[in-house]
Amino acid sequence: MDLPPRPELFDFHGVSMIPCFTDNWENYQNFQARPDDILIATYPKAGTTWVSYILDLLYFRESLEDRQTTIPIYERVPFLEICVPGLFSGKDQVDNLTTSPRLIKTHLPVQFVPKSFWEQNCRIVYVARNAKDSVVSFFHFDRMNKAQPEPGDWSSYLKRFMDGKMVFGSWYEHVKGWWEKQKSHPNILYLFYEDLIENTEEELDKLCSFLGLSPSSESKKQVMEKALFDNMKNNKMANGSADAVLDFKISPFMRKGLPYLVVVFVYKSSSDFFGAKFYRCSSLIDQKLKKKR
Ligand code: A3P
Repeated sequence: MDLPPRPELFDFHGVSMIPCFTDNWENYQNFQARPDDILIATYPKAGTTWVSYILDLLYFRESLEDRQTTIPIYERVPFLEICVPGLFSGKDQVDNLTTSPRLIKTHLPVQFVPKSFWEQNCRIVYVARNAKDSVVSFFHFDRMNKAQPEPGDWSSYLKRFMDGKMVFGSWYEHVKGWWEKQKSHPNILYLFYEDLIENTEEELDKLCSFLGLSPSSESKKQVMEKALFDNMKNNKMANGSADAVLDFKISPFMRKGLPYLVVVFVYKSSSDFFGAKFYRCSSLIDQKLKKKR
């Protein structure tokens, strides 16, 4: 398939973006949510696909078995803001979903979320991942995804990440913006990728209780088994290999799926205060950056 040249970043209402996430802006801002819609929101590379897959399994594994083997996860859980004019739009994909609840993915910073989600009081699952792993994962993703801006070399990439010049803007603003929002919105469940890795069962219970689901322990076991890193990595419907813009010769979509142990250690042993957790992670990056200068 002939792909257009890689896009350039530009400033969009104070956030770095590329056209495929802004071309359909007016249209997706007018998106009509339904009260039972579930929005999965993340900064890129925080485990969006993993959590999308877990939710899809929780809701549809038993009733729609074929779905697991025939429909890629990115079609089961459409990406609301994505649009290639004349070809497809995530919003249309959501509008065409026939299943209920509709599971919807977004990377939008909180201030860009269409107002209908708030009016309908939809449940939103936000997943945050530490900055270090997010930027490494994003770098490899941008290398293999020709629809993303040219990543350049690692040190300039890291610098741009620190400056918030990434698609969907600053990691700091994103995780902080959503964190502030959830304080006054009980319908937002704020999860951490690292907790999902360390205490999958506990986090799954949290998720189920938030969604009002009570799967049997056998069902939970099956969901956890299917959503294991290696099982997803070997599943064509979940590992991104069905997506034509991803070049697996450069990097797999699911690379390591592990938290960076030093970071986990640092922020697990720091105060429980969220800001402190991420401040510690960010300062590690700062130190690295300073060393490089
Ligand atoms: P790495 O690049 O560090 O391996 P997203 O879906 O938001 O793009 O996030 C992708 C990241 O989530 C990748 O991180 C990928 O490996 C990781 N991931 C996907 N499925 C996972 C799973 N089942 N367990 C742990 N990590 C997973």
